[in-house]
Amino acid sequence: MSNPGPLFRPFEKLVKITIAGKEFEVPEGNMLLRAFQYLSPEEVAHGRFCWNEECQDCRVNYDLGEGTQDRTAISCKLMVQDGMRITEMAQEIRYCLRELGLGKK
Ligand code: FES
Repeated sequence: MSNPGPLFRPFEKLVKITIAGKEFEVPEGNMLLRAFQYLSPEEVAHGRFCWNEECQDCRVNYDLGEGTQDRTAISCKLMVQDGMRITEMAQEIRYCLRELGLGKK
């Protein structure tokens, strides 16, 4: 079992998610916003996120794979899942993930 620090819950494996068409691996058992932070630690730490369902600046659209329903959620309250595909993100998230080389929207 590995634990990269107190921010993340202990995890045994990484799960694959797709953000704007690009694949990433993030620790299972964490909220999606935490997974974004795993990919872009400094930027998300400094982002304007309440982490508490209030600001809505962490909103995403996602589905769970080909042919599944498109859903909207706030990523600070959404548990990451293997195969999750993030199709749209609030501007604050897109800004924080700008170093990941995601496609323009
Ligand atoms: S971070 Fe504010 S609602 Fe999710």
